[in-house]
Amino acid sequence: MTRTGSSPGVLSIKPFRRLWIALSLSSFGDWLSILALTALAGSLTKGSAENYAIGGVLVVKLLPALVFGPLAGAVADRFDRRTTMVIADILRFSLFLSIPIVGRLDWLYIATFLVEVVTLFWIPAKEATVPNLVPKDQLEKANQISLISTYGSAPVAAGTFSVLALISGVLFETQRQQANLALYINAVTFLVSAATIFSLREIPKQGGKVSVPSILKQIFAGWRFVGSTPLVRGLTVGIVGAFAAGGAVIGIAKVYVKALGGGDAAYGVVFGMVFVGMAIGMFLAPRILKEFSRRRLFGLAIIGAGIALALIAIIQNLVIVALLTALLGTGAGIAWVIGYTLIGLEVEDSLRGRTWAFLQSLVRVALLLTVAAVPFIAGAVGEHRIKLNKNSVYHFDGPNAVLLLGALVAVIVGLLAYRQMDDRRGVPLLRDLMAALRGEEYAPEEPGGSRERGVFLAFEGGEGAGKTTQARLLAIWLRDQGFDVVTTREPGSTKMGMRLRAILLDKETTGLSARAETLLYAADRAQHVAEVIRPALQRGAIVVTDRYVDSSLAYQGAGRELKGKEIAEVNRWATGGLTPDLTIILDVPSDVGLGRFASPADRIESEPREFHERVRRGFRALAEAEPHRYLVIDGTQPQADITRQIHDRVRSILPDPVPATAEAVTSTMPVISD
Ligand code: TYD
Repeated sequence: MTRTGSSPGVLSIKPFRRLWIALSLSSFGDWLSILALTALAGSLTKGSAENYAIGGVLVVKLLPALVFGPLAGAVADRFDRRTTMVIADILRFSLFLSIPIVGRLDWLYIATFLVEVVTLFWIPAKEATVPNLVPKDQLEKANQISLISTYGSAPVAAGTFSVLALISGVLFETQRQQANLALYINAVTFLVSAATIFSLREIPKQGGKVSVPSILKQIFAGWRFVGSTPLVRGLTVGIVGAFAAGGAVIGIAKVYVKALGGGDAAYGVVFGMVFVGMAIGMFLAPRILKEFSRRRLFGLAIIGAGIALALIAIIQNLVIVALLTALLGTGAGIAWVIGYTLIGLEVEDSLRGRTWAFLQSLVRVALLLTVAAVPFIAGAVGEHRIKLNKNSVYHFDGPNAVLLLGALVAVIVGLLAYRQMDDRRGVPLLRDLMAALRGEEYAPEEPGGSRERGVFLAFEGGEGAGKTTQARLLAIWLRDQGFDVVTTREPGSTKMGMRLRAILLDKETTGLSARAETLLYAADRAQHVAEVIRPALQRGAIVVTDRYVDSSLAYQGAGRELKGKEIAEVNRWATGGLTPDLTIILDVPSDVGLGRFASPADRIESEPREFHERVRRGFRALAEAEPHRYLVIDGTQPQADITRQIHDRVRSILPDPVPATAEAVTSTMPVISD
């Protein structure tokens, strides 16, 4: 049996597939147990003690890894792997089974603790087994698939928990019995896992030693090199802070959902929403925001998650909270994939393993500390009732405070990460983001410099529209007023451009592909900007050009039917993002324009009528999309009328022709007295 995939799927390896099924089942059981245990602990206590009871469950779950992790790893190495795993699963089955049977809070803690200790033996045994079942070149795939099932089983477990809560809500009366049902099912998953692994004869007795270094040691060793680069520093702050905020949510979720009037089913739904959101974030966001800086997005995603969390704390409506939770998860998911990819891409091979180990250890400690702190914070805040009006009272209790605090941490940490990691300093965030949403990369006006002081005007239009005449008249008018004016045109305003113009417009040029044509115009333009336009603008001149980027968008885009977006991108790169302050389009029906010539003069003019009609529509569409940057004039009007309309509009954007310091003479400025 084979699986489809880029390589022959690792899941087609039968022993690995079995192990993977066992692993998925255990993960599923694990997630289910978190929900069931917190629900049960909550139902075994009353009032504010509930906070502590739930926090206690999580602390007990996290603590063993910190304390016994390395020890268990070393011990596990000495035993037969298959036996270790089977015994561990049977023990976990029995322990989970005992929790509802005993039905006491103290035993719940002890059993949970023991389950985690047993798990510490199970994991290294599994880790050491995988390389024996899978060929080396597929190991990474195998690890990926394991990771997917570890986290992918969470929403499934959350959904199952909700459904179970609903079913048992019909069958049983107390909340305790409902949680018990989930625990029984959870116990069974470990029994099935034990049976599956038992049947795996392929697991070698020993070999493939894995060493599990101490968590604290990893943190201290990691600290030294993490501090050295801003990227890893930013990632660390972001990831650890996000998990700390996450700890606050996990720790308080059950109590909060209850305060909002939800039961276990609602708790399961809210829990699952986090993972649904994470999945959305992981898969969608990098695709939608393809052009956006990953490093910026990382911090923003955490800030976004923080804002969602703040809203969750304030808006006390279960449905809205569930939706916001998905949003929170989306932010977390985005941050997670970015963190994961950035470390993969930018941390040296030799340091990557250590970086991960460091981060994972730190994350566990952060989770543990926050989860442990949550009940105390909630308890310290207590309950507050704010009377809004006669019939409504706003509740602000411990859980609200905890969530708000978590939100604050996330926002601060997001900001810090953003500042540390920003790779586009000086590029305004909003414009950068808007451009990315349109699928473009925002190019700063001028690479590495400030905006020019001059004014940049462009004339555009089809053949025979009269641009050349109007451009000349405008230049004369401006010079009359004392402005330094540069008139220029495309293609062919530089030495190199002349040669390109010859190729582009010569009727002898045949078979030039549309893309090559686009690039040649862009090449001419790049030279034009670098040699003529930018220097003129920098010294403060007014530049009037006959044709610019929009000609390419209209002729090569609309005319040759190439993708406008791609042409825009090429040209943005060619010009360094330089756009005219105002573009004047002289609009004439193509018959009229072409009729102004005796016979087609060049290669482009010789294109059929439909081509020129498309070009005309192309220009109009550009102006419609950004009306503030354009002046569209009916080119069939008398010349003097056209000129006047141009003057009226250009006057409004002209700078002071005399130095701004010479205030006294401003009133005599011709532009104003005209
Ligand atoms: P030109 O003789 O300068 O034309 P006009 O007087 O019409 O402005 O020739 C430029 C020709 O090149 C014109 O037919 C339009 C075409 N063109 C493009 O197709 N793409 C471009 O980017 C530019 C600048 C011009």
